Amino acid sequence: MHILVTGAAGYIGSMVTKSLINEGYQVIALDNLQQGHQEAVHPHAQFVEADLRDVTMLKKVLGQYPIEAVVHLAAVSFVGESVVNPQKYFQSNLVFGINLLEAMLEHNVKKLVFSSSAAVYGSPDAKQIVEGQPIVPPLNPYGETKLMFERILKRYEYAYDLQVTKADGVYTYMTGFVIVEDQITS
Ligand SMILES: NC(=O)c1ccc[n+]([C@@H]2O[C@H](COP(=O)([O-])OP(=O)(O)OC[C@H]3O[C@@H](n4cnc5c(N)ncnc54)[C@H](O)[C@@H]3O)[C@@H](O)[C@H]2O)c1
Repeated sequence: MHILVTGAAGYIGSMVTKSLINEGYQVIALDNLQQGHQEAVHPHAQFVEADLRDVTMLKKVLGQYPIEAVVHLAAVSFVGESVVNPQKYFQSNLVFGINLLEAMLEHNVKKLVFSSSAAVYGSPDAKQIVEGQPIVPPLNPYGETKLMFERILKRYEYAYDLQVTKADGVYTYMTGFVIVEDQITS
């Protein structure tokens, strides 16, 4: 079974890729290497150096391999930078994410794991953040992009029958395989 992992050369993506490979999946590991390192990608993964801004390339990759699920981890994620350069964040985390969804729909790939962030919860009163607790406005553009993309995904679930699992970053690292497994078998 083939799974596309975006941001596969990054901190979390390289670990998710390794977990998936160890469980017997064929991983297409996509990254533009702007932050990640190709050496961090498991050697049994099929590495594709590509940028999510390039929708033609994304469609080609999704057409080239029999991909059944996507783990979308590629993002820019520096809170401070997002405040001084929000345009980069809205493009990378929203526009390029929509490119990925367009390519997935064209190739009828409907299973997606999306790494959101605890930053969507702003600065809550509770000491512990629990998945699904009421959203308060994010404090920075990075958190806003993650929350906006969650909302975009809700619309795609309804309109295009996309099956989405949302996970926060560290949680994705720990459970990336389990989440994808659930997605595939459900
Ligand atoms: N690390 C954490 O603690 C944490 C916590 C919450 C959420 N997250 C989320 O998890 C995901 C992965 O985080 P990470 O810490 O591994 O980050 P990271 O920067 O190590 O990895 C992201 C990878 O995406 C790649 N990338 C970025 N833009 C791209 C593009 N346009 N096209 C192709 N590749 C691109 C980068 O080169 C990098 O390798 C992100 O979506 C992040 O928002 C991380």
